[in-house]
Amino acid sequence: MSLINDFFLAKIKLCDVTLWYKLLQNKYGDIFETYIGSFRRIVLSRADYVEKLMSPSTKTNYVLRTEQMPEYDEINTTGKGITFNTDIPTWRFNRQFFSQVVLTLSFSKEALLSTPILFNELNGYWKEIGDDVPIDFAIWIHKFTTEAIFQLVVGVKVSAMTKYFNDNVELSKRKYIEPSHIDEEIKNFDQIIDTRLRNTIFLFTVPAFLRQTIFKKRNDAMHENRNMTQRIITKIIDHRRKEIEDHKEVKSNLLTLLITANTEHVDGEYSKPLTNDHISQILIEAITGGIDTTANLLCFIVYHMAHYPNVLARLREELNNIFGSEQNRQITMEDLSKMHYTEAIIKECSRLINPSKMVQRNSSTKDTMIDREWPANTAFIGSNS
Ligand code: HEM
Repeated sequence: MSLINDFFLAKIKLCDVTLWYKLLQNKYGDIFETYIGSFRRIVLSRADYVEKLMSPSTKTNYVLRTEQMPEYDEINTTGKGITFNTDIPTWRFNRQFFSQVVLTLSFSKEALLSTPILFNELNGYWKEIGDDVPIDFAIWIHKFTTEAIFQLVVGVKVSAMTKYFNDNVELSKRKYIEPSHIDEEIKNFDQIIDTRLRNTIFLFTVPAFLRQTIFKKRNDAMHENRNMTQRIITKIIDHRRKEIEDHKEVKSNLLTLLITANTEHVDGEYSKPLTNDHISQILIEAITGGIDTTANLLCFIVYHMAHYPNVLARLREELNNIFGSEQNRQITMEDLSKMHYTEAIIKECSRLINPSKMVQRNSSTKDTMIDREWPANTAFIGSNS
C-alpha cells in the first residue's frame, strides 16, 4: 500500500522532485529510500548526514556521482566525461582537467568579454519588442544563458535569442540567421542538446523492456539524437583542432582550453591530452549543466531584487560607483574585484533558493553511514528539500 501511495505521490510530484522529497521526508524522516524506475536511491535530508558524502578528501569512499549502468552505453557515456563516468582514474583526470581549465584567467576573461555582447543583443530585442508589450523574462533569460553557455563552452552561435525573437514578431521584423560555416545543423544544436537532456530522463525512468517494445519509436529517436549530437560535436572539435594547428586566432572557450591545456603536472599514464571522446562528453555536461542553473539563478536574483528595493538601490549604487558615466564600457577583471555587494547578492540568492537541490554520490566499497552498514555501490542523494 505504501509503495502504491509513494508511486502516486511520485507521479504527481515528478515535475518537482524536491517537493516530492519534502513530502517523503515529512512522512518517513531524514533518511529514506526511493526508486525511480529500478534505481534505488537513499535520500539523506540532514546536513550532518550529507557531510561524509561530500568530503573533499582524495581518499573518500564517495567520489563517484553515479553507478555503472547498461543505460550509459545507449547514450554513449560509459567511462567518459565526469558526471556519468564510473572509472575512478579517468574520472579524476577529467575532473582535474575541467577544474584547471575553468579556473584559468583566460576563461574568465572570455566570459567577461562575451557576456555583455550577448546582453546587448538581448536588450536590442527587448527594445524592438517595445516597453508596452509584456515579455516572459524566464524564457528570455533561458535563451540568453543558452547562447552564453554555447559560446563559452564550444564557441559556436546557436542563435537561441534570435530564433525566439523571430517566433514572436511579425514576418517583416524577423532577423536573418547566418548559417554556420562548420555545419548546417549547428543552428539547431541547442534544440538537439535539449532533446538529449529530455531523452536522458526517458532513458532512466522507463525500463528497457518498455523502451524496446511499447516506446520503440521514442527509443529509436533517442538513439538518432545521440548519433546526431556526436556527429555535430565531433565536427566542432575537429574544426577547432585544425584552427589551432593552423595557428588561427581562437577564443579561450572551454573547448579550446580542453584541447590546449597543459597536462605536464599530471602523473602517470594519464599525463596526456584529452581524447575527442572525453572532450565531447565534458562539453555536453558543461552545456547541459550550465544553461538551466544560471538561468534559474538569474531569475531568482531578479525576483529578490523586485522584492527588496532597498537592496536593489544599493546594488545600483555600487555599480554606479564603479562605472560612473561610462555605463556601457567593457567590464574588466578589476571592476569585478570591486563588486563586493553584487557578489554578496548572488551568494545570498543562491543560498535562499538553492538552484541545485540535490547531489548524488555512490559508495565504492561497503561502508557504515548513520549507524547502518551499506553495500558497495549504494547510491545516496544529499537533498536540500
Ligand atoms: C548557478 C550556476 C550553477 C550551479 C548552481 C551549478 C551546480 C552544480 C552542481 C550542484 C553540480 C554537482 C556537483 C557535485 O556533484 O559535487 C555541478 C556539476 C557540474 N557543473 Fe555546474 N552549476 C552551475 C553552473 C555551471 C556552468 C556555467 C557550467 C559550465 C560552464 C557547469 C558545469 C558543470 C559540470 C561539467 C559539472 C560536473 C562536474 C562534477 O560533477 O564535479 N556548471 N554543477
